[in-house]
Amino acid sequence: MARRKIVAGNWKMNMTPSEAVKLAEELKPLVASEEVDVVYCVPAIDIIPVVEAVKGTNVAVGAENMYFEEKGAYTGEISAAMLVDAGVKYVIIGHSERRDYFKEDDALLNKKVKKAFEAGLTPILCCGESLELREMGVTMDWIRFQIKSDLVGITADQVKTMVIAYEPIWAIGTGKTATTEQAQEVCKGIRECIAEMYDAATAEAVRIQYGGSVNAGTAADLFSQPDIDGGLVGGASLKAEFGQIVNYK
Ligand code: 13P
Repeated sequence: MARRKIVAGNWKMNMTPSEAVKLAEELKPLVASEEVDVVYCVPAIDIIPVVEAVKGTNVAVGAENMYFEEKGAYTGEISAAMLVDAGVKYVIIGHSERRDYFKEDDALLNKKVKKAFEAGLTPILCCGESLELREMGVTMDWIRFQIKSDLVGITADQVKTMVIAYEPIWAIGTGKTATTEQAQEVCKGIRECIAEMYDAATAEAVRIQYGGSVNAGTAADLFSQPDIDGGLVGGASLKAEFGQIVNYK
């Protein structure tokens, strides 16, 4: 069965609650699609108003982060159960900005992936290499390490439902999209890694996105690659352009 495309916006630390509702209203007619799953991953404080704003549409809401503990004395953190209760369906785990600025390592991310599944959230697990690693020629080794360590203890049935986002760090927010060939090559490599870790059926089912300066001009080429099942979009998800990315065909 063909994998359904999934295009997610990562709003990052943008949009106050009132701006978020306005953006969701503006995008409503533009992101309507029968064929593509559409997700807005929004700042925690925007979750409740955005869930309300997209009610009755094809848009699902995701979080940009969560903590792995059930509840308790973890000042400033948000639990998986809180996200579920607020109407969240997806959660980004291991974005490079969290890995770099907030020192999240693969052992921690593995705990978050486990907790997300336990709570009934769909993880969007991010991986990606720096320019330095790419130039050293170790891109795929690095990404295989990330995938393998982030998925320790995760079952094939869980992996089949999740989303993996390949985001080369050098392409994020730089306007420098990876070439279609570079993006396809790594997404294929991720699928091969999943096949080795699990089986062919799991590799066939898992959805793999490309992220990094995706725009209305590059989406069609990227998303029509055999191993690219959509995108994780930063800057362009905050504009009307996101509608063109969703309806890339
Ligand atoms: P940009 O689309 O702004 O490059 O961001 C990509 C990204 O980090 C999505 O998670």
